[in-house]
Amino acid sequence: MAFIAALLLLFFSAFSQGNALSLNYYTKTCPDVEHVIAQVVREATSKDKTVPAGLLRMHFHDCFIRGCDGSVLLKSKGGNKAEKDGPPNVSLHAFYVIDSAKKAVETICPGIVSCADILALAARDAVVLTGGPTWDVPKGRKDGRISKASETVQLPAPTFNISQLQQSFSQRGLSMEDLVALSGGHTLGFSHCSSFQNRIHNFNLTHDTDPTLHPSFAARLQSICPIKNKAKNAGATMDPSSTTFDNNYYKLILQKKSLFSSDQALLTIPKTRDLVSKYASSKKAFNTAFINSMIKMSSITGGQEVRKDCRVVN
Ligand code: HEM
Repeated sequence: MAFIAALLLLFFSAFSQGNALSLNYYTKTCPDVEHVIAQVVREATSKDKTVPAGLLRMHFHDCFIRGCDGSVLLKSKGGNKAEKDGPPNVSLHAFYVIDSAKKAVETICPGIVSCADILALAARDAVVLTGGPTWDVPKGRKDGRISKASETVQLPAPTFNISQLQQSFSQRGLSMEDLVALSGGHTLGFSHCSSFQNRIHNFNLTHDTDPTLHPSFAARLQSICPIKNKAKNAGATMDPSSTTFDNNYYKLILQKKSLFSSDQALLTIPKTRDLVSKYASSKKAFNTAFINSMIKMSSITGGQEVRKDCRVVN
């Protein structure tokens, strides 16, 4: 596995903006960093089972805007509205876990470990803690100094079709295989009604609900999310086993019970449909693909410094 990781790293450093990542980046400067972060994530998860989903999504949103540079962690300041306050990120949560991990890491090796690396490691720990596979995370990311809410429009939307998804991923050096494997992150967590509202009311001129949704599932979603939904926190879990990292997500897509158009879109072309079937029938194949694609996504680098406080630039 380490060999595959090293090969991938070599290949993707071509896409990155200069920071070479390595598996032993902190071996000399902060040997205990991974233990300390894992401990913080474990404690937070034991108190709140929604933490892992929050961390995994946060890392994805970080990597897709300006690379994995911790730009998603910065707070808005003065006239600058940060990524965190952009529409798709308003539902991100568990930022306090990254703050606690940074604090713990700073006490053992001050000024050494970037917030972007802490987030990448915490996302891996999130997967492990929910029963998913583990892997060695390449490290050495730097933190960025720019974070703009306006750039969050570049994140893929849940209404995207397969060609929009393909474009969004390929712009970041990610393939259709990566798209299918990483979408498996939707085995964890929760979605607000607004993210799938388009599928359950006034879908189009001829159908009120998306015909690619299983009828009883559509009816259940409609009851949770009525047309004039007033409950701000209403929504559905991504998967009935939403705190367990498994391959159930792919089985649900095949049963027409996934939440987003972007999930269901994976069935619309043979290449991605075949991968959905493969991962639905083999947890092992999914885990291997997920690891490879996570390493690829989290190797899109972009920053310049090691922040002292993850919420503000130095
Ligand atoms: C393929 C394009 C993707 C789209 C369009 C998408 C869209 C979304 C949306 C709309 C939500 C629900 C937000 C809400 O209403 O609160 C969500 C949740 C989530 N997404 Fe994605 N996502 C994508 C890919 C990914 C990837 C690559 C990962 C990680 C590898 C990921 C991990 C998650 C997780 C864990 C949640 C649950 C978050 C929580 O419970 O707090 N998603 N996604």
